Amino acid sequence: MLRDLMLRNRSYRRFHQEVAIELETLRGLVDLARLSASSANKQPLKYILSCDPQKNALIFPHLGWAGYLKDWLGPSEGERPSAYIIVLGDTEINRSFAPDYGIAAQSILLGATEKGLGGCMIATVERQGLSQALGIPPRYEILLVLALGKPKEKVVIEKVLPSGDIKYWRDSEGIHHVPKRALDDIIIG
Ligand SMILES: Cc1cc2nc3c(=O)[nH]c(=O)nc-3n(C[C@H](O)[C@H](O)[C@H](O)COP(=O)(O)O)c2cc1C
Repeated sequence: MLRDLMLRNRSYRRFHQEVAIELETLRGLVDLARLSASSANKQPLKYILSCDPQKNALIFPHLGWAGYLKDWLGPSEGERPSAYIIVLGDTEINRSFAPDYGIAAQSILLGATEKGLGGCMIATVERQGLSQALGIPPRYEILLVLALGKPKEKVVIEKVLPSGDIKYWRDSEGIHHVPKRALDDIIIG
């Protein structure tokens, strides 16, 4: 079952924007992060939740989408995320936040996938602009933005070809292909 969940837990970047996500759902997802491992158990991560269209519209312009898809600037209106969870590092608790925030992000996305939702971790964030737009106090470092929604695209896993190219691509039918290295290529001893 976990493997099935992992297979379904792809990065989705186009959504049924009209399908709303409740604040309680977002709180439940952050609760999964709260229960996750934390280096020295410092638990320095804090979160901002957004599931209303006005706040979502403040967040979206500061995000960078799918760097390998050069002719695609990101989801158009109607296909944008219906919610976001912004993962912050509280610098009054710690100065470094890895790998805690990756673990937290994965917990949240697995929880979303289990609920039939999907999302994408976004590290390409125009941080100063987003901080200003939301009035985030300087003590909080923006680590990741998790875009969430009901996926509107199909994502399939491919083998990495002998050329070694790991770039994802989108085909003429809009299906997103993600090459993954083979198990025998990553276990080296
Ligand atoms: C730390 C991290 C940062 C990422 N940042 C971005 C990003 O800024 N924009 C984006 O579109 N995707 C981003 N992604 C998604 C990756 O592109 C995606 O995980 C990768 O293509 C593999 O696809 P998969 O998640 O479906 O396995 C990020 C993923 C991770 C783990």
